Amino acid sequence: MADLFAKCGMLIKPRQAEAMGCYPFFIPIGSEAGPEVIIQGRRMVMLGSNNYLGLTQDPRVKEAAQRAIAKYGSGCTGSRLMNGTLDLHRELEQRLAHFMRKEDALVFTTGFQTNLGTISALVGRHDTIVLDRSVHASIIDGCRLSLGETVRFKHNDMADLERVLQGIDPKRGILIIVDGVYSMEGDIANVPELVRLKKKYGARLMIDEAHAVGVFGEGGRGVAEYFGLLDEVDLITATFSKSFASIGGFVAGSKDVIYYIRHMARALLFSASLPPASAAAALAALDIIENEPERRERLWENTRFLQRGLKELRFSTGNSESPIIPLIVGDEMRLAWFWKGLFDGGVFTNAAVSPAVEPDRALIRTSLMATHTVDQLTYALEVMEATGKRQGLL
Ligand SMILES: Cc1ncc(COP(=O)(O)O)c(C=O)c1O
Repeated sequence: MADLFAKCGMLIKPRQAEAMGCYPFFIPIGSEAGPEVIIQGRRMVMLGSNNYLGLTQDPRVKEAAQRAIAKYGSGCTGSRLMNGTLDLHRELEQRLAHFMRKEDALVFTTGFQTNLGTISALVGRHDTIVLDRSVHASIIDGCRLSLGETVRFKHNDMADLERVLQGIDPKRGILIIVDGVYSMEGDIANVPELVRLKKKYGARLMIDEAHAVGVFGEGGRGVAEYFGLLDEVDLITATFSKSFASIGGFVAGSKDVIYYIRHMARALLFSASLPPASAAAALAALDIIENEPERRERLWENTRFLQRGLKELRFSTGNSESPIIPLIVGDEMRLAWFWKGLFDGGVFTNAAVSPAVEPDRALIRTSLMATHTVDQLTYALEVMEATGKRQGLL
């Protein structure tokens, strides 16, 4: 008889990497997620977080979370629908709607749930989702949960998107979904062309701005704002787990659509709401995002510095246009050893392998913070150069 668990003992690749001492995942960090972290008692430069503005260490954000615990306790013990909506959640939603220049917003407990709940609530059996091939896993899972059909287009290829749109029965509702910034390679969506095509084919457009809010645009509203097209994007989703220095997520759009999602999204209705400390931290981070554009400036200065350094060393950094900069290695085993070399040299990065990236495109994902110093980045570049040369990557 077949044993359902038989496959579990046969998961070879991670076990091999562990046995060889180059396993790059689930590393316990013993300090705050700042520009430097402490791992196994060693201080390292952190180039693998999503803490773009460095706000997890900001005293105002920490104090807001502490005050919320004192006032509301440690959790809500219920879903938004029943007993889990605090005045704090509504305040956060109103502030986010105003910030994103949309009529309303809805807060979920994670960014992952935001995409799951939003997509599966909106897309019915008579609708079609048109998806960039490289969108985040939470969007793919949201599509799997929806009753509609899903078709994909080649990553960032607008001619292929048009080819797909041409083949869809005009009687079907269409939702185009893309990431604003792609989380592994740091390239960005072609919003002007997406808007042109969505209008031409009567579709709706949703952009996941998880890695772009707080980072792109004059006001930090994301890639849609950066292109001056915020009004043309029907739905924006994002997370608090990156620039907002917390956890949670939100969707922003028109009043009717948000009202519908609020009453139909199972990931919202059947899951406990965002804890008070997380909501308060996100609110405090929003204040800073709105009022301290100089942080964004510093993040971009650091991004240009590292990008320039990596290019001079001739690392292959793909089409990155954001504070996420990949070092594309290709082969997974070579990548694991490169990651280990950087780690041993005192630089923490993320190793990205399939399915997060295409199987032949394993890469080191680096990401910048506004709070990195030039000394820290210079040190990281030296370690990258030495390791890359020693391992024949340069
Ligand atoms: C593009 C994108 N969307 C959604 C998510 C999910 O966000 P969260 O960490 O809040 O669940 C992530 C985070 O990994 C992401 O990169």
